[in-house]
Amino acid sequence: MLNEKEILELIDEAIIARESAYAKFSNFKVGAVLIDDRANHYSGCNVENSSYGLSMCGERNAIFHAVSKGMKKIKVIAIVGDTEGPLSPCGACRQVINEFSTEDTIVIMANMKKEYKVVKFIDLFPYGFRL
Ligand code: THU
Repeated sequence: MLNEKEILELIDEAIIARESAYAKFSNFKVGAVLIDDRANHYSGCNVENSSYGLSMCGERNAIFHAVSKGMKKIKVIAIVGDTEGPLSPCGACRQVINEFSTEDTIVIMANMKKEYKVVKFIDLFPYGFRL
């Protein structure tokens, strides 16, 4: 579905989104970008808070941003952070992706060296909770 050039372009978009991260407590910046079923792109970054528990991950910020603009379904979401291997999304973000996923949703996990892994969301988070 995505060729290498498209994957690397999405990772670049996520890297640009990551530049806006507000991560003064963990110093761990995350950028995310998603493409919806109408081919719109939406990005997000993590935003931390002095009251640590109020911090929000990059993936969820991208999704909430997208929903506020009318996004219905995620076709692909790319996530990047400065990790040893590709950054794997946290459990809370997986549950939120689940809400807007289809059986074809793809996750691109990447790091700043542009090492990446492309996985089907259903393989990353089977049996997700939905009402
Ligand atoms: N973080 C994300 O943005 N996404 C993840 O999937 C894992 C963690 C953020 C939360 C916090 O701001 C920082 O990374 C350190 O945990």
